[in-house]
Amino acid sequence: MNKTEQMRTREIIIAFQEFDKLEELSATDKKLVEAARVASNNAYAPYSHFHVGAALLLENGEIVEGNNQENADFTDGLCAERVALFYAHAKFPKVSVVAIAVSAKNHNGLLKEPAQPCGSCRQVMVETEVRFQKPIRIILDGSDSIHILDGAESLLPLAFKPKALR
Ligand code: THU
Repeated sequence: MNKTEQMRTREIIIAFQEFDKLEELSATDKKLVEAARVASNNAYAPYSHFHVGAALLLENGEIVEGNNQENADFTDGLCAERVALFYAHAKFPKVSVVAIAVSAKNHNGLLKEPAQPCGSCRQVMVETEVRFQKPIRIILDGSDSIHILDGAESLLPLAFKPKALR
């Protein structure tokens, strides 16, 4: 077989930082997680009872919060991350996103394990990174463990990117 016809196995390695508690984070990251925790209290989640908060740090220093907004027609609701991202882009269309913190509570309170954004939110984070040409620091909050990733590519490798449309 010709060498160029041979299949290759490629690997993607995803690195992230893990912390045991909020106090171990930098002051900036800690403040953002605290904002996400507070934002989760305003979630409208009468159907899932899963209350998610997201807080964005923008390049201009603004902190923009969002929370999940549900609807009796389940497909009409929106996740906390996208509420925050779309609101930030609506209000500050030229300002890049430096970091996002996500926090979630169920009937037992704050999740023990780090909150995990859904696939659609990951896709919107990737779009934001491409739009502003800047990776977003992603902080996933949990009471027993906090994960920090350097960019949305770590959450959604091989993502569909807007430049593919051009
Ligand atoms: N949810 C979020 O807000 N963010 C996520 O990353 C995962 C899920 C919301 C959607 C829905 O209102 C509820 O959590 C249960 O799925």
